[in-house]
Amino acid sequence: MPRKSVQPGLFAGTPANLPPGLFHRPGLLDPAGQAALYAAVQAVARDAPFAHARTRMGLTSAAMTNAGSAGWWSDLKGYRYETRNPATGAAWPPMPAIFREAVAAAVADTPWPDFAPDACLINFYGEGAKMGLHQDRDEKDFAQPIVTVSLGDDGDFLIGGLTRSERAQVLIVKSGDALIMGGDSRMRFHGIRKIHPGTSPLEPLAGRISLTFRKAL
Ligand code: CO
Repeated sequence: MPRKSVQPGLFAGTPANLPPGLFHRPGLLDPAGQAALYAAVQAVARDAPFAHARTRMGLTSAAMTNAGSAGWWSDLKGYRYETRNPATGAAWPPMPAIFREAVAAAVADTPWPDFAPDACLINFYGEGAKMGLHQDRDEKDFAQPIVTVSLGDDGDFLIGGLTRSERAQVLIVKSGDALIMGGDSRMRFHGIRKIHPGTSPLEPLAGRISLTFRKAL
């Protein structure tokens, strides 16, 4: 039965309809796996609290933190990876083992089974939060994929083309799903149109958390 979460006329929910290099793994993590991952996120956030990053357009509506040897950050100096948390000067928390296990499961059966990220950007989307269409281009090696794991509320993930003008399509990502963008899809524009409040199957989590794994350095 096709996933009814995908809007008609879009990717229709079957991997065969996704463009080359884009992989969707619905339900990669079962409820216990989601709860364990969320507990690890909370531990990271106790060490490196979520904060809204500053961009030229103002504060991001998603709150962010990082784990790993590099963390994505933005302030008036621009977008970049930092080996330390600019808010505290401390190193980012190390990537928990359960993060790496989720990535390994996500990239199995893709062209990048040995993907070893050094950065995990964790975004929290509360009600009304979104992320405009953008490309991820602050990393050194675009041959490495990007892996995103979702927790909590459903989100409308926007997948555009390789140019900003190409119309984006919506893929609904649910708690426990993974999305992999690599190869011909590595530089696709993408974003979050909105989240769907109240849809989180994770009891303590209201909102959406995304874990975006990249090889940054
Ligand atoms: Co991005």
